[in-house]
Amino acid sequence: MSEVVTYNADGNVGIITVDSPPVNALSLAVRRGILEAAKTGIADDSVQALVLICTGRTFIAGADITEFDKAPESPWLDEVIDLIEGAAKPVVAAIHGTALGGGLETTLACHYRVAVPSARCGLPEVSLGIVPGAGGTQRLPRLIGPEAALDMIASGIPVKASKALELGLLDHIVEGELLPGALAFARNLIEEGKGPRRIREMSDKVQDVNAAIFEAARKLYGKKRRGFNAPQRAIDCVEIATKTDIDAGLAKEREIFEACLHSDQSKAQRHIFFAERTATKIPDVPRDTPVRDIKSAAIIGAGTMGGGIAMNFASAGIPVFLMDATQEGLDRGIAIIEKNYASGVKKGRMTQEQMDATMALVRPTLSYADLADVDIVIEAVFEEMDIKKTVFKELDAVCKASAILATNTSTLDINEIADSISRPEQVIGLHFFSPANIMKLLEIVRGEKTAKDVIATSFKLSKTIRKVGVLVGVCDGFVGNRMVHPYIRESMFLLEEGATPAQVDKAIYEFGMAMGPHAMSDLAGLDVGWRIRKRQAETRPADERYCAIADKICEGGNYGQKSGRGFYIYDPATRRSTPDPEVEALCVAEAGRNGIERRAISDAEIVERCIYALINEGARILEEGIALRASDIDVIYAYGYGFPAYRGGPMHYADTIGIARVYERVCAFHEEHGVLWEPAPLLKQLAETDRTFSDFTK
Ligand code: 3HC
Repeated sequence: MSEVVTYNADGNVGIITVDSPPVNALSLAVRRGILEAAKTGIADDSVQALVLICTGRTFIAGADITEFDKAPESPWLDEVIDLIEGAAKPVVAAIHGTALGGGLETTLACHYRVAVPSARCGLPEVSLGIVPGAGGTQRLPRLIGPEAALDMIASGIPVKASKALELGLLDHIVEGELLPGALAFARNLIEEGKGPRRIREMSDKVQDVNAAIFEAARKLYGKKRRGFNAPQRAIDCVEIATKTDIDAGLAKEREIFEACLHSDQSKAQRHIFFAERTATKIPDVPRDTPVRDIKSAAIIGAGTMGGGIAMNFASAGIPVFLMDATQEGLDRGIAIIEKNYASGVKKGRMTQEQMDATMALVRPTLSYADLADVDIVIEAVFEEMDIKKTVFKELDAVCKASAILATNTSTLDINEIADSISRPEQVIGLHFFSPANIMKLLEIVRGEKTAKDVIATSFKLSKTIRKVGVLVGVCDGFVGNRMVHPYIRESMFLLEEGATPAQVDKAIYEFGMAMGPHAMSDLAGLDVGWRIRKRQAETRPADERYCAIADKICEGGNYGQKSGRGFYIYDPATRRSTPDPEVEALCVAEAGRNGIERRAISDAEIVERCIYALINEGARILEEGIALRASDIDVIYAYGYGFPAYRGGPMHYADTIGIARVYERVCAFHEEHGVLWEPAPLLKQLAETDRTFSDFTK
């Protein structure tokens, strides 16, 4: 008898129960167990119907992704599905939690589906760079129609139980306990003499389908998921369902699934899936480290960043004080938050009542005294050490002993801030990315003295406020911004050497980044980098190559999008950018001033110069232990900097093209462009020993 799947009879209904924590994924043992239990149930003459149910937190959450890189072992999921679908007595899937991927496909082999109201159903395979491979693309359109199926399969987004019922994906919602509800449903079928209802025998919804829906979907996902292969292939599969019989469709789906599975895109996307989860594992902060309750919060500084951070808490139902030094600052901050939520209401993301309830959680204050009882404070004031220290002094005086005191600094030394107060162990960096209410990344910056439970609590909090937390160490710029410096540096040098901002941005955009470096700088505000460069000027070696184009743009009072002009000119109404001839003239002038002869630059060189600069700095960060592992850097770049998930982040990308190749090009750039391209020792070492970043542990 299987250890993870059991069979028992309850009167005239047989129950197949899957119990394979954490998410009942369809591992070999689970497939084998379901097959055995289903065979037993089918052969059991005392029962006239079967129920498939799971224990633990969820119904089957899909195929076991850890098996994807191993040689497949029988029984395949198809065998399980064929057996269940072909059963002569009705089989009912009873769903709680999430029925995802192969899990939902298993329910589509069942003849009926019931679920609790909180359940969700989806085929999220495209987020792993694959298409559903166990009949999902062929059965779902037959059940709910190709249009609704396209939405679910190409987006990968699960639907709630209520929506699934409306679509006809579910037959019934069980209020109250699932198992008794499912048994009652099964008994009802028996009483009414209803036998198996096989989706493979349904064909009315996939006949005479207008081909325009597929073209529209291709266009939509070409934009929404630019560069991703799987959504396009998923659309192909659904179209096939409308053109062939089910067996031919299933064979074609399998072929496409296999091709996707072995693609670099899928490997990269699966890498990101596991990287995101691995990032939460900190070697000296075990999972059972106690965490503090975060029931209230305060944000200091009601600017764009502070307001965005406060929204995360309010949206998660946590009351949050928003504090500022002036009433005007506070009013402005609250007004921006209100505007953001109102736009959510307009777009149908929340109701007016939900907005009102959320806004009521944001409490404006001008006084530190109000923060005496909060569980966490995050300061997001001006990026000056003295100002930060003054804030922390006030917090030290007023906050309760157990309060976590966090800073959102992106450049300053957190250890110095921590050491300026009486409780450095309570201090941590929580570095949000702009716009803070939207960007998923949270760099959790560990100071020398940060307490372990403060780290554990920060990870738990990041999940509560729907961020992806990654632990980083203290250094200038931490991981993300430190790596972005050489990336931006190269994008600037390329302007002197002969490229235009538009050419650089286009090449990088086509590589897959959400936007090019110059468009990104304009969006972030050119004054931010300018201020940092002015501070660094004193320590910059006199003979180091330096590009002054961005400084000169700022000197003209142009700070990017916010002032309507930066590397580009922005239309105030549409925010659309057009090239700025003055900036292009400036590039030529600066090249002349620095004695650089301009030349034609290929898109391939642009990509290598910018992306390899990221990788080389990433290697240093890894070697210094600022990031715990290469995959953490990948998560930071995928979630915070728009690095295409289908390339798996900069370090995985380096592994994919080969460290030796990256090293060779970095050496060539070093020779051509000098000291700033000095290869990171780790890059050299890995190249010479034929290893990868993913192999490296410090
Ligand atoms: N296979 C293997 N391991 C899985 C898994 C899967 N399908 N889904 C989750 N896990 C693991 C996670 O890696 C994690 O392991 P860890 O504790 O060692 O880090 C653990 O289960 C718990 O996962 P989460 O931390 O993500 O738990 P949550 O409760 O936050 O989320 C979930 C649960 C919504 C099920 C989420 O894990 C998820 O989205 N999983 C992936 C679902 C998916 O993509 N399914 C499709 C798979 S492909 C497929 O089915 C192909 C088919 O068509 C043939």
